[in-house]
Amino acid sequence: MKKLIAANWKMNGQADWSDKPAQLSTILDGTIPKTAQVLICPPSVYLTQIADNAHKYGMNAGAQNCHSAESGAFTGEISAQMAADCHADYVICGHSERRAMFGDTDAVVQAKATSVIQSAMVAIICVGETLEQRESGAANSTVEAQLRASIPEASTALNTVIAYEPVWAIGTGKTATLDDIEKMHAHIRSVYHDMFGARSAKDLCIQYGGSVKPSNAKDILSTKGVDGALVGGASLKMEDFAKIILAA
Ligand code: PGA
Repeated sequence: MKKLIAANWKMNGQADWSDKPAQLSTILDGTIPKTAQVLICPPSVYLTQIADNAHKYGMNAGAQNCHSAESGAFTGEISAQMAADCHADYVICGHSERRAMFGDTDAVVQAKATSVIQSAMVAIICVGETLEQRESGAANSTVEAQLRASIPEASTALNTVIAYEPVWAIGTGKTATLDDIEKMHAHIRSVYHDMFGARSAKDLCIQYGGSVKPSNAKDILSTKGVDGALVGGASLKMEDFAKIILAA
């Protein structure tokens, strides 16, 4: 399985960032390593331009969020189909920032992921424990509960990616230990196995996210059960992001 290296730009960037796929491609000497699949998730207003440029250079593009409804009176929101109309291939669902600040409960995340799958895209479903939950020994149970309540029934390894992002590791410079990452990824795969069976679980892409940077990418990406990375801060500079792609 190729490692899925995804850039989550969050609310960063501007119109002239549409040339970032070209910049990235130049840094990579025009070739994406065979072992990596590159995904860029810009703010949705820039999605069409970024997606079209990403596709030109053999990369994918995704939205950072969508609404679960097809249409309606939801001021400021976009539907999954609208993201697909902007040529997105993926949509991130239930990032911890959305869970913490925008009311994305497990049920909301599940509804969003369902609409992403119905719109023929891949849902990247984010899960992860807080520091308090980890320290109290509740990391596994927290993540398991999120998985069971956030993953849609229609999930397969083809239409779903799970991103394990410990909340305390996001944007903090702290990363989970490689041992903790390996154990949590194995736990996630076993919960998915229980929900959807052996074949799906074997093929499921599980990304790690939380302060992934050039200096730790190689170790993290070579940890057993890690099939990719969801990168925030270090994806804003193409030189850094390229190093992470090369680490795959
Ligand atoms: P970070 O963010 O790499 O800046 O920690 C990761 C994420 O939030 O997806």
